Amino acid sequence: MRERIEQLMDEVKKASPTGAEAIEAFRIKYLGRKGELKALAEDFKSVANDQKREMGQLLNELKKNITAKVEELKNAGEEQTSAATGEDLTRPHGDLPIGARHPISIVRREILDIFARIGFTVAEGPEVEDDWHVFSGLNFPPEHPARDMQDTFFVEGDDRLLRTHTSSVQVREMEHRDPPIRIVMPGRVFRNEAVSARSHCAFHQVEGLYIDKDVSFADLKQTLLYFAQEFFGKAKIRLRPSYFPFTEPSAEMDVYWGLETETDYRITKGTGWLEVLGCGMVDPNVLKASGIDPEVYTGFAFGMGIERIAMLRYQIGDLRMFFENDARFLKQFTSVS
Ligand code: PHE
Repeated sequence: MRERIEQLMDEVKKASPTGAEAIEAFRIKYLGRKGELKALAEDFKSVANDQKREMGQLLNELKKNITAKVEELKNAGEEQTSAATGEDLTRPHGDLPIGARHPISIVRREILDIFARIGFTVAEGPEVEDDWHVFSGLNFPPEHPARDMQDTFFVEGDDRLLRTHTSSVQVREMEHRDPPIRIVMPGRVFRNEAVSARSHCAFHQVEGLYIDKDVSFADLKQTLLYFAQEFFGKAKIRLRPSYFPFTEPSAEMDVYWGLETETDYRITKGTGWLEVLGCGMVDPNVLKASGIDPEVYTGFAFGMGIERIAMLRYQIGDLRMFFENDARFLKQFTSVS
């Protein structure tokens, strides 16, 4: 038996199978269920008692040698494959690319930050709404075209719909709070519109609302001027008369952008002025509908589209860029916070 063991030791030492299959065959030949080692274990039973100790040790050693050899062969095999493919499997990986914040998020944060500095806190509401919060509570007459299927996505019947503007959050907040109310309300809104370079069926708005005693149109104008200066760095705004069912009087705010470059001509349509948002004094009917006494309180509201403002800020010509999430587009934006 000693001879057989020594012979096998020698054999194992010299063997040099290559390739995963040959190595596995090697392992099975010696360590398998019907392998050499198993046969020796059988023989061991008939070894004379006084030799059992020594033979046992030899057998153990043989087993250790074979196991070590198999490991060694496998490792060598892996190195060969990585050498063949030119890959170094032990190389530490490089830096992982860091993602960037989406431009809509960057602009939304900046808008909220600017208003936070003058005491506006953030409020949010649901995207799936009812008629009251989107239309009726905001003084929309029953025949108003915005209530049409053409403009609004209805989820179920005519009282479950996707909000078409964040003004719905105004109503929710007025119902639940007592003045003074000074909030900004960011959120996603939905309109039944075809997707194009200038319109999309889902986009983002930031709404603002300030209600207190003696709030005047001058307060509205000063607040918006402050915003324009902080955000655009432009010192001149103008308010053009406009109409919204929930504000009276209503206006649209333009920022004076200038006419220095060709792009300025294009984005201001040759006027030098850019339309930025809609605003007005909260209609007394709206206050009343939400349980606020219009004899005691007055307020102003405004609403702006985040995509529109981001397009101006970054000179982006096509709204669809924001929704396609092409990594080459997105990685151009960086923000410090
Ligand atoms: N909700 C209006 C819109 O979506 C914007 C607006 C908000 C106008 C608040 C006036 C006051 O166009």
